[in-house]
Amino acid sequence: MNIQNLRFIHGIFLAPMAGVTDYSMRVLCHRMGAEMSVTEMLSAKALHYRDEKTEELAKFDSLTSPCSIQIFGHEPDIMAEAAAMLEKRFAPQMIDINMGCPVKKIVSNGEGSALMSDPKLAEEIVKAVSSAIKTPLSVKIRAGWDENNKNAVEFACRMERAGADMICIHGRTKSQMYNPGVDLNIIKDVKNALSIPVLGNGDIYSAADALHMLEYTGCDGIMVARGAYGNPWIFKEIKCTLEGKGYTPPSVTERINVAKEHLSLLIADKGEYTGIREARKHLAWYLKGMRGAAPARVEINAAESHSAVTDILDRILNENV
Ligand SMILES: Cc1cc2nc3c(=O)[nH]c(=O)nc-3n(C[C@H](O)[C@H](O)[C@H](O)COP(=O)(O)O)c2cc1C
Repeated sequence: MNIQNLRFIHGIFLAPMAGVTDYSMRVLCHRMGAEMSVTEMLSAKALHYRDEKTEELAKFDSLTSPCSIQIFGHEPDIMAEAAAMLEKRFAPQMIDINMGCPVKKIVSNGEGSALMSDPKLAEEIVKAVSSAIKTPLSVKIRAGWDENNKNAVEFACRMERAGADMICIHGRTKSQMYNPGVDLNIIKDVKNALSIPVLGNGDIYSAADALHMLEYTGCDGIMVARGAYGNPWIFKEIKCTLEGKGYTPPSVTERINVAKEHLSLLIADKGEYTGIREARKHLAWYLKGMRGAAPARVEINAAESHSAVTDILDRILNENV
């Protein structure tokens, strides 16, 4: 895949996930082979008001590059202003527009997946943003609003004509939220209808899933979301498989060491109080399947210091080697 000056070997992306793909998660996924990561979604309106916490979400560095910053909103001028500000201030390798979020609070504002029901406004947004920036612009969409309104193909074509440089399609409708299975046929149809690159997204939990997505749909790359929960190694697994190399899953020691590193990165980034709280879900994901994971999860959720959490992780390591 080659988007202007961006060259990807396999097109293996870490998907945007609010509350998950913060700086710490992106550091680990890049190290394990993600070729690009996308930030959590940033409100264009909040950027307009120079909200510091929102700007903080855009942070990336050499360990988390190339990086795409995702914005959401519904006002073309505010979206264009936010994208131009991000380009100038952070110089990301890509900017992405969220047109897939199904969360009530977002949709009721006419944002996220609601834009798939308002293609005219979506087109105005893409036109405004693409004219305001030089950075490649992608749009992340769903299959459509619901089973009776699966308009991804026409919608994606319209986004391409409006100036999008890449489309990522999550093969579920808004009504499906995150379950059940992904419709690979609609991803294939979008890929066949467009001349810009298309990423396939949904239910990639292993290299076999990634390979199936690539082969079945013919898409140019893939985006992994929940498959990276507690498993940044999924990128290595996919990369090794695509390159015909052997892949050895991480040992318990490696899993615990990376879990500890994730915790340290979160604390360094957000301070001990917030870092520990945000680490809880990640640590539960890393520990999944290990002996003693259930009681350890309860203890971790009650622990208040970095050293207390590390002691619990060390104990789990001893119980599992
Ligand atoms: C906790 C969570 C947060 C998410 N946040 C975002 C977001 O900020 N922007 C976005 O475009 N998609 C978001 N998504 C959707 C994912 O990027 C992805 O499209 C979806 O989870 C399907 O992929 P999967 O089946 O591999 O998980 C989120 C998903 C989850 C589970």
